[in-house]
Amino acid sequence: MHKYEKIWISLGTASLAVFLIILGISAVHGGHTPAASGIETINPEHVREDARFSEPGLKEATDGDHDYDLYFLASAFMYEPGEVEIPAGSTVKIHVTSPDVVHGFQVVGTNVNMIAEPGLISTYEMTFDEPGEHLIVCNEYCGIGHTDMTSTLKVVN
Ligand code: CUA
Repeated sequence: MHKYEKIWISLGTASLAVFLIILGISAVHGGHTPAASGIETINPEHVREDARFSEPGLKEATDGDHDYDLYFLASAFMYEPGEVEIPAGSTVKIHVTSPDVVHGFQVVGTNVNMIAEPGLISTYEMTFDEPGEHLIVCNEYCGIGHTDMTSTLKVVN
């Protein structure tokens, strides 16, 4: 009887150790860990709970040498925001992700052409000098509403 008690106690200690090790590993690998390539990851199921994408749009930059961060959510079959105004001459870092399937993000008339992929945040930094209107279009086939998926980027003085 005494022997069995010893076995149970060591089993209990061993499973506690395993539990703590797993907890430690997930703590190290959890959260917003930037991938080695510089592409940031995000859990696509919780995109709307993320402060950056819960109310996507233009926000004053808090770090880096750009003026604004512009957050875009590409989902079937719309962009949020559906329209955005950028002050002419400002440098904007655009961040795009998707909560569902792969979409495109092309700002017509500029070099901005990204993929909005669930789980990843694509970024592109760009200075918008000329006032004008740019159509944003989805260039990855994503389903029945693909061609209706647009937004407008207005560069204003
Ligand atoms: Cu979204 Cu095509």
